[in-house]
Amino acid sequence: MRVLGIESSCDETSASVVEDGSVLLSLVTATSMDLHAMYGGVVPEIAARSHIESIIPVIDQALDQADCDWDQIDAIAVTYGAGLGGSLLVGVMTARSLAITHNKPLYAINHVEAHIYANFLTKTDLSGYALPPTAPEFPMLGLIVSGGHSQLVLWRDHFDYTLLGQTHDDAIGEAFDKVAKIIGLPYPGGPSVGQAAMDGDAQAFAFPKSKMPGKYDFSFSGIKTAVLRAAQKEIDEDHTFPSHKLSERLSEAQKANIAASFQRTAIETVVDKTMLAYEEFQPKSVVIGGGVSASPELRRQLSERLTLEINYTDSQLCTDNGAMVATLGCYQARLDQPTADPYSLTPEPNLSM
Ligand code: KG4
Ligand code: ZN
Repeated sequence: MRVLGIESSCDETSASVVEDGSVLLSLVTATSMDLHAMYGGVVPEIAARSHIESIIPVIDQALDQADCDWDQIDAIAVTYGAGLGGSLLVGVMTARSLAITHNKPLYAINHVEAHIYANFLTKTDLSGYALPPTAPEFPMLGLIVSGGHSQLVLWRDHFDYTLLGQTHDDAIGEAFDKVAKIIGLPYPGGPSVGQAAMDGDAQAFAFPKSKMPGKYDFSFSGIKTAVLRAAQKEIDEDHTFPSHKLSERLSEAQKANIAASFQRTAIETVVDKTMLAYEEFQPKSVVIGGGVSASPELRRQLSERLTLEINYTDSQLCTDNGAMVATLGCYQARLDQPTADPYSLTPEPNLSM
């Protein structure tokens, strides 16, 4: 079974063909990230317009790369939430039109669930992807860490899961992006903070880990404010000093120390909760997904603390991509999950798990 996956929830327009939920046949992604970088974050109108321009060429290339024509595609899967309304609309309307004209079943995909399904890809003939040798086993503990989500989820089986906890305010990726902005590093903040942290002392600052009422819940707004206050203090200014003027006054060494200390603490926060859930539920596998799952620091801390071995997937499959959507679409089709109506499927920007 071959499924075409379409992803357009944020600033990446991506399409991919996946076979049987395990074989990556193609993956093509266009990103409008460069257009957003100068604003320090994604501008929804620019993202939506970029999706319109690139979605058809991206899908054509994904079919080409997989050496597939429409006769060899069994179903279409598309992200319908969560995400930016205008961005989601482009993917959903394109998928609906293609499902109708090519007479294919349509599957509506939850973006957050899909991030975890990137870990089920184990084979490819495409060069440049390091995939895990085997798929995760159930029960499976999933940590989703992206620009929009921070969640811990326990899967007993496909489509049978419990949300253990989630963030009450900022997502962890959002915190990386905001801290990058405060200390004058480029967007997206995950990779740029990670890079700066390599030259810094991760113990230089003791940033707080927020305590939440829910055992598995997160909060990242406190640490973001603590970073702002620490940066102001470093240059002998008080809390009234404007954040946009901070970066020009901080030395490279101060920025590196803030980046390293923030990264250590933010990552420890999610790893602490993952460890708690691991001990309570004793899953057979632990998987991570979402943009921040590409972080070498997250992988280092998890591998150091977990007794279980984790098979991390390629970092290209951690950030938003069509392959994770196609993979989850394969499982929906194989396990007889309901199809979406191609005449009425609408985006759900606030879709939860
Ligand atoms: O999953 P994703 O591509 O989009 C959302 O669904 O939000 O995640 C984007 C987030 C951004 O906040 C970005 O700073 C972060 O993932 N990110 C990283 C890395 N690459 C992207 N964080 C840490 N290390 C990375 N290498
Ligand atoms: Zn995402």
